[in-house]
Amino acid sequence: MGYSDIYREWQTDPEAFWMKAAEDIHWYKKPSKALFDENAPVYEWFSDGLTNTCYNAVDRHVEAGRGGQLAIMHESPITHSTKGLTYRELRDRVASLAGALKMRGVEKGDRVIIYMPMIPEALEAMLACARIGAVHSVVFGGFAAHELAVRIDDAKPTAIIAASCGLEPNRVVHYKPLLDEAIEQAEHKPDFCVIFQREQEVAKLVEGRDFSWHGFQYGVKPADCVPVEGNHPAYILYTSGTTGQPKGVVRTTGGHLVALQWTMKNIYNVGPGERFWAASDVGWVVGHSYICYGPLIAGAETLVFEGKPIGTPHAGVFWKIIQNHRVKSFFTAPTALRAIKREDPKGEWIKRYKLHDLQALFLAGERADPDTIKWAQEHLNVPVIDHWWQTETGWAIAANPIGVETLPVKIGSPSVAMPGYDVHILDEGGHEVPDGTMGAIAIKLPLPPGTLQTLWNAEERYRKSYLEHFPGYYETGDAGYKDEDGYLYIMARTDDVINVAGHRLSTGAMEEVLAAHPDVAECAVIGVHDDLKGQLPFGFLCLNSGSDRKPEDVIAECVYQVRDQIGPVAAFRHACIVDRLPKTRSGKILRATMQKIADSEEYKMPATIDDPAILDEITAALRDAGYAKVREPQ
Ligand code: COA
Ligand code: AMP
Repeated sequence: MGYSDIYREWQTDPEAFWMKAAEDIHWYKKPSKALFDENAPVYEWFSDGLTNTCYNAVDRHVEAGRGGQLAIMHESPITHSTKGLTYRELRDRVASLAGALKMRGVEKGDRVIIYMPMIPEALEAMLACARIGAVHSVVFGGFAAHELAVRIDDAKPTAIIAASCGLEPNRVVHYKPLLDEAIEQAEHKPDFCVIFQREQEVAKLVEGRDFSWHGFQYGVKPADCVPVEGNHPAYILYTSGTTGQPKGVVRTTGGHLVALQWTMKNIYNVGPGERFWAASDVGWVVGHSYICYGPLIAGAETLVFEGKPIGTPHAGVFWKIIQNHRVKSFFTAPTALRAIKREDPKGEWIKRYKLHDLQALFLAGERADPDTIKWAQEHLNVPVIDHWWQTETGWAIAANPIGVETLPVKIGSPSVAMPGYDVHILDEGGHEVPDGTMGAIAIKLPLPPGTLQTLWNAEERYRKSYLEHFPGYYETGDAGYKDEDGYLYIMARTDDVINVAGHRLSTGAMEEVLAAHPDVAECAVIGVHDDLKGQLPFGFLCLNSGSDRKPEDVIAECVYQVRDQIGPVAAFRHACIVDRLPKTRSGKILRATMQKIADSEEYKMPATIDDPAILDEITAALRDAGYAKVREPQ
């Protein structure tokens, strides 16, 4: 069967399609049906089945006689270490940690925050939660204490599992002081913390609250897998919205298992014993779906990489690892390839390694620019597959499903909609636009299994953010178009979310930090084009009248504050002082117009602008900062 047959099979009978896919998962009690629509437009999948994520990702492979096969391979060019764990070792370690969590009172449904770098223990912590039905929420290490505190207050975890430190090429990231500060800031306090002490930094433990990873597990009885309902939350993953309050995407167990298993076979063409590597971080959705769960559910070997595409130690590190571990499918963000391409434009590093086992390179996280795709195609000589998805969906909305059929690659397009996704391009009024015309991208409800069921503790926000604008559809927040062959092109966001080095960030969150500066009366943050990172945040600050501070001092303090409050990952370094911000007559800041000016794109004078002259001031300020070089308004 080719792609069109499979897509048609799903369209004809979605229920039968997903029930058949569910047969690849172990159920303690099989679900009676796939879709539960009683609470539509909030849908659930496989709700009355009983299953366990950890059993499907670990134990069942051991029981099938593959306990000696590698499950996780850790590569850290920063610590110069390589370490493998078999499925049997992984099961024993996870069961032990799960047993210790249980003994300390963590029960099914309790939340556990995980704040860890790229080490196998991060995956073990996730799986240990899944084993006992606890709901984990992994927080990316590049976020500052304040962001962690916000998540602690929202998820209200019983426990937090953290490492003593993370390792960036140029510095040690002191996780433990960040954790202590976050707990101090948060209103909710966890019952206890478990700290994995790394050799590079041994953290001071708080007596009565903190336990060391090893001591905590000493002498405990390993825990068995706890059967949970199909609609039991597997995890919460916070992602950026338009405000400083992140959205807690809730992924439920049954759909998560079914969807990821389906994608491993059909999109990535990876099965038991084969090697899969996603060079992302467990703090992001790619890390959840394709460093931890997807490959393990499929019984494959997953690589956990602590390093960077360049500088650890060189621009050939990806290719060296692909060669040494005979990686079959490799997944990274375009920004990582751009970094490599900049250092190795002729692909000299690639030529030094034998990449015989590599069947395809997958890209996601941001728009893959044609130059980068062409460079990868030329030097790697394998299909370069762009695919489009979001934290909310958990797996690809559009892809080229090489496990089914490798469709012709159209550069600039993440290819076609996957089964489960009925993708439409709509105008502002919710009407379908013709092929080739840009519009808002929306997906007909229900979304398939494995996508978000709701937002944690915020069902109303879920409905408002995603379901209300186009009734009957899920609003992706992306804009783009479809061509006559059904290929999608994802061009921009329709909201104030920006994408910095494949990381999704909220300009609203940065504006909240800037607005708190005592000399700032008003501010706006936009994403400006950057050749390496795709976008970088840029701030406009209006100072309080009468402020006699030096502009450069205020800017430096604002830069410091964003790093301190949100984290280094925000990469907020540039801002300028302006007298006024361009607004509509109703007071809405014209961020999209400012972004177009910054990127020297053509723009139309907004009909509702209050005072067009302000755009001249903005253009001048951007020119001084090195942006807005060519065009004038039409
Ligand atoms: N913990 C703590 N700090 C972190 C971190 C982590 N897990 N990850 C990044 N940071 C810090 C970095 O140290 C850096 O801090 P600095 O300002 O002190 O230098 C800052 O956050 C920005 O990091 P990063 O985005 O990694 O930029 P970079 O300039 O260090 O490297 C790239 C540039 C392109 C090499 C890098 O961004 C990259 O590898 N991108 C790929 C991203 C990716 O895979 N995304 C997943 C989407 S699927
Ligand atoms: P995140 O939730 O962090 O995975 O970010 C999701 C957003 O990243 C999407 O809504 C898009 O804006 C962007 N994105 C992800 N993958 C792609 C892609 N292949 N092409 C274009 N944009 C992408």
